[in-house]
Amino acid sequence: MFLLNQHPDYRKPPDPVDAETLGTTAAEKVERYLTYRDNNAPTPLHILRALAAKLGVGAIHIKDEGFRLGLGSFKALGGSYAVTQLVLEEAKRQLGRPVDVAELHTPEVHAAAAAMTVACATDGNHGRSVAQGAQLVGARAAIFVHSGVSDERVAAIARFGAQMIRVEGTYDDSVAEAARVAAQKGWIVVSDTSWPSYERIPGLVMQGYTAMVREALRQLPEPPTHVFVQAGVGGVAAAVAGHLALALGDQRPTFVVVDPARAACLFETARAGHPVKIDHSEPTIMAMLECYEPSLVAWRVLSRVADAFMTVDEEDAVAVMNRLARPVGDDPAIVAGESGGVGLAGLIRAAADPEIRAALDLNEVSRVFVINTEGATDPERYAKLVGMRPDAVAVTSGGADA
Ligand SMILES: Cc1ncc(COP(=O)(O)O)c(C=O)c1O
Repeated sequence: MFLLNQHPDYRKPPDPVDAETLGTTAAEKVERYLTYRDNNAPTPLHILRALAAKLGVGAIHIKDEGFRLGLGSFKALGGSYAVTQLVLEEAKRQLGRPVDVAELHTPEVHAAAAAMTVACATDGNHGRSVAQGAQLVGARAAIFVHSGVSDERVAAIARFGAQMIRVEGTYDDSVAEAARVAAQKGWIVVSDTSWPSYERIPGLVMQGYTAMVREALRQLPEPPTHVFVQAGVGGVAAAVAGHLALALGDQRPTFVVVDPARAACLFETARAGHPVKIDHSEPTIMAMLECYEPSLVAWRVLSRVADAFMTVDEEDAVAVMNRLARPVGDDPAIVAGESGGVGLAGLIRAAADPEIRAALDLNEVSRVFVINTEGATDPERYAKLVGMRPDAVAVTSGGADA
């Protein structure tokens, strides 16, 4: 399914609040924070020449977030950044003076953090980031996971010392339970999705993602003409599209949001013209994208700066993992988890469809940018889907479980 953006706000610049969250100054702040993180290094940007030729586009660049901060996904940038910002704010309140990120590892800041518990619901990657951020500053973390989250993913979060809480039901049920228990216990919810009157913290999470876009703009030989980004609640798509619109203005690329057909909450929201909660269908293999309601902040940004919305099917996600694992020509092999290559899967579908090509003005001179949003964050499942031995995956998973 494919849909051009027809929202009345389409092409308006991002709302001033979102511009402050996602603009260049905000991204610089995140990059400064990252210099205080171990394992901080730019993730690789690869060019897929052979695939570009095959699809009839000028160039495809793919940023490989499997290598992000030793966590295996771009999510490492968001939750942990939000946690540290909240801790710095609490330290400022307690000390009665401004507290700079340079003080992140001081006894004063750790003392403020020690009394804080951060909580969130997760499909896996966001919780890992929140737990890692909490561990970094000495706060406690309580992470809520729904029935579909694999034991491997739970173990990968627990490794950061987080308290793990299983919730019967879906991701949405785990979001509701995290909010309920946190309100009871005085914990701070650090969610990657937003709802009415809960926008600031998810905004900080999205702000964390902007560092990836700034980094990509430095690595790319030229700004892209087209960008395809996958969506769960839409946070990363909005951060990328919003930052590109703010940084590049009229020169911003055509931006396409890609949803799994089985969890197409952004697509259906775009079709309805307002945020909608969609019905659950069968679970999607694109586990990190299995969300049934968009983030309000994300939608506010995307309604203005996304140009189109589309869906891909289960087999597209598996095919793209295999295509990246065993590339054509001299293209590099890339380890993409189940949700990692979905933006590229969207490009592959779009490029094969003459109507979509025409609608997006996608042609042999287009410079396309996509993000491999995760490496093999669930190595066993990855191995099964690409027909590899599980023990071979750890080596190529971009440090997912480092
Ligand atoms: C690997 C990966 N890709 C994409 C997404 C989608 O991000 P968002 O929910 O912000 O749309 C997620 C979310 O958890 C993810 O873990």
